[in-house]
Amino acid sequence: MSEAQQGLERSLTLELGRVTEAAAIAAHRLVGRGDEKAADQVAVDAMRKALNTLDVDGTVVIGEGERDEAPMLYIGEKVGTGNGPKVDIALDPLEGTTLTAKAMPNALAVVAIAEGGSLLHAPDVYMDKIAIGAGYPEGLVDLDADPADNIKALAQAKGVDASQITACILDRPRHMEIIEKVRMAGAGVQLITDGDVAGVIHTTDGATGVDIYLGQGGAPEGVLAAAALRCIGGQMQTRLVFRNDDERGRATRIGITDFDRKYSMMDLASGDVMFAATGVTNGSMLEGIKVVGERIDSHTIVMRSKTRTVRWIRASHRQEGK
Ligand code: FBP
Repeated sequence: MSEAQQGLERSLTLELGRVTEAAAIAAHRLVGRGDEKAADQVAVDAMRKALNTLDVDGTVVIGEGERDEAPMLYIGEKVGTGNGPKVDIALDPLEGTTLTAKAMPNALAVVAIAEGGSLLHAPDVYMDKIAIGAGYPEGLVDLDADPADNIKALAQAKGVDASQITACILDRPRHMEIIEKVRMAGAGVQLITDGDVAGVIHTTDGATGVDIYLGQGGAPEGVLAAAALRCIGGQMQTRLVFRNDDERGRATRIGITDFDRKYSMMDLASGDVMFAATGVTNGSMLEGIKVVGERIDSHTIVMRSKTRTVRWIRASHRQEGK
């Protein structure tokens, strides 16, 4: 790769931070307003506008939905100026629409970019997920193992008692059995109401107190989380979950033939991956957008798999019209 190309990719990582900042700033005006749709819409508009200034030939592979159901940032939409590398884009302008509407923690604006063809084109179905942070032997935990065995293996590798392990799990009736098994194994459970991209990323940061993520969330969110873990380190395994023929049809249309396949982190996001997230509401890793006098403060993480550099960016923006 030429020096110029490398420089472009480096600056693209930082540019991605601008993309998530724009979406998060737009969404913050609707924090606590009880309107999920409006909050999502302003974030989508702002993210799309910012993406279209990037010098990339981009295709949205994880987006707001299929073309007939999402007018903007739909799967297959071309974004960017067209002058630059061919890239796949996975995005969620507002990950945690309900969290935003109810002013609850951990709502994020998220985007990942990778070389064309290297992000899984995941259908909008559920996905079983297991994730842990960096520094453990490969294959230490397994999606198909009993949750209690995963907790035991993790505690042993961490050199602590199972009682010192915390699992993050979405608070859903479908997770009752996993929650029970994790607690029976002696570990604690941090239940989250929404936002499993943040839930998975939290396993990589000791300060969050989360050691392992378990359970079923959205497949698109799974690809975004895998992109983040590729950059920051960690392990993740997943499997798509189909509840009916319509969902199997969605998968078939985008070329998925093996419905039982177990996807590793690399299967979800391979190649050179860049990831950015900006906090919309305060969270365990990122602070939310804050209005400070005439300025707006944002907190963003940007990272890239090739160098594993993780940057935390605090920015102070002038409010429009002030
Ligand atoms: P939205 O931002 O689209 O509302 O998604 C939030 C979320 O909690 C995801 O983080 C998670 O993967 C998914 O919804 C879980 O789906 P469900 O609410 O159906 O259990």
